Amino acid sequence: MTAEKLREEFLNYFKSKGHSVVPSSSLLPDDPSVLLTTAGMQQFKPYYTAKADPLSSPHTSLSGKPIGSKNAVSVQKCFRTSDIDEVGDETHLTFFEMLGNFSFGGYFKEEAINFAYEFLTKKLGITIDYVTVFKGDESVPMDMESENEWNNLGFSKENGNVKFSGREDNFWGPTGSEGPCGPTTEIYIKSMPESGQSTEIWNIVFNEYYSNKDKTLERLKNPGVDTGMGLERLAMVSQEVKNIFETDLFGPILSLIPKNMPERIRRIVADHARGAVFLLADGILPSNKEAGYILRRLLRRIIVHEDMSSDGAAGHSGYGFNIHLIMEKIISEYGSSYPKLISQKQIILDEFEKEREKFSKTLRKGLRELNRIGEINAKSAFYLYESFGLPYEIIKELGEDKAKGLGREEFDSEFDKHREQSRAGKEKKFGGHGLILDTGELKASNEEELKKVTRLHTATHLLQAALRKVLGDNIHQGGSDITAERLRFDFHFERKPSSVELSEVEDLVNRAIEHDLDMGYEEMPYGEAIKTGALYFEKEKYPPNVRVYTAKDSNTGEVFSRELCGGPHVSHTGELKSFKIFKEESVGAGLRRIRATVGEK
Ligand code: SER
Repeated sequence: MTAEKLREEFLNYFKSKGHSVVPSSSLLPDDPSVLLTTAGMQQFKPYYTAKADPLSSPHTSLSGKPIGSKNAVSVQKCFRTSDIDEVGDETHLTFFEMLGNFSFGGYFKEEAINFAYEFLTKKLGITIDYVTVFKGDESVPMDMESENEWNNLGFSKENGNVKFSGREDNFWGPTGSEGPCGPTTEIYIKSMPESGQSTEIWNIVFNEYYSNKDKTLERLKNPGVDTGMGLERLAMVSQEVKNIFETDLFGPILSLIPKNMPERIRRIVADHARGAVFLLADGILPSNKEAGYILRRLLRRIIVHEDMSSDGAAGHSGYGFNIHLIMEKIISEYGSSYPKLISQKQIILDEFEKEREKFSKTLRKGLRELNRIGEINAKSAFYLYESFGLPYEIIKELGEDKAKGLGREEFDSEFDKHREQSRAGKEKKFGGHGLILDTGELKASNEEELKKVTRLHTATHLLQAALRKVLGDNIHQGGSDITAERLRFDFHFERKPSSVELSEVEDLVNRAIEHDLDMGYEEMPYGEAIKTGALYFEKEKYPPNVRVYTAKDSNTGEVFSRELCGGPHVSHTGELKSFKIFKEESVGAGLRRIRATVGEK
């Protein structure tokens, strides 16, 4: 069955079983505890914890409407960096699509297992090889209900098609530092009917617990079901091919990559190009931080191979391939299921070209330097990244034996160390000559400018709070830059805000200024600060102790804005006098930019 048909069959089957069809959420999640969306359940987290009710709470993917059912089904875009080193083998990917059915206080083990069995064996005619069940440990009992359900369907320990495992294989979650989790039952299928090899195809999680930050487990208010089945693997077994790259999801992409290149590299290029297209479509741009850094690494890795293949270097053919064409192909192949790829096509291709242009300035030199260096350790690898933009994966791959001793963890810690140092170096002291403040966000070169940027900085906090009040709580910061003349604030939002919405935002900020709110801060450990509900910039790395700045009405105690921030700020919002938005524009897929000033009345 084609992958397109598999998506459709899956959604239709669960729809016929009383599930609401919910669109995939963005790869950039609302949940700040994770960098990217790694699982279908993420957008539903508040339903498991009963913080929201699927029957009445608005759901962001449904433009503010509730799901309207306790059961949902989706095909979710997922991205897992944890598998990046495995890409190139038969089954691992960075980006993949996950088919999932979910229940939040609706059905439980009996129905979930029967649905999965019926869908695979009856609808798709696939034979299940065996299943696994949680064997229990000191804090969570063995999952006898699941074993029992499988027994009813003719599977048993005695027949050898029910196997038991512990936490490592049959317990899932939480995503990020805390959240729903629980025992799982997993379904394995022989990838080719005659092959001895079985592949895990479907993970059925019974979210019975909430895992706290300190790893203690509490029973969930709404025990539920969270299942995930990789579309690529399902297509592999349904289409009876040897690996995910032989499915129709990859065929058209791989046909543009020369066959005489090493197979592993062809797969890496196909995977990374696909991942990059989807990340760009969701508004992520290449950068040196967080999600942008992941995207940059994907892009640069394929750019290196494109470059090498064009001149026959490093064992490649010299026939070459063209990433631009590959991306266009991905957009046309996936566009009918993900229309955003089509609407963002120009941005995707332009951003890719910008990155290629930037990287190509240093790439060849970087490769020469890589060849020149003797043994490569974390320090020299970081030097290659910082000076020539060569990502870790490329250094590891092309450095071969010289880079054997290089590990990802050492490289990452070298990377973090340098970032901390450059941040600290930018915060210069008052009173001296030249630049007196440069935090990356604010810059001032004399006391007069410092006063101006300070007022604009406070205005930026009020603006973000007002945007959330008018456009919704899923607004989050994409970037900020402040000069003595103006503030510039980027935020993720799918459409152009209307002029009515923008003037509402402006009014709210002006009202906060008129009320002359107190702007003060408290210093506290990062973990505690997050618990106050303060906003923070996902792309920022914070120190262990942070300041939480709050703008609040000293008479009523009402909080207008609360954010993690290093300062400086004015002490009363009245000092801003007035606030004006003078420009609003799009600066990337799903990314908007506001320029505004403060000033005299
Ligand atoms: N959350 C589980 C997983 O990602 C099942 O969807 O595997």
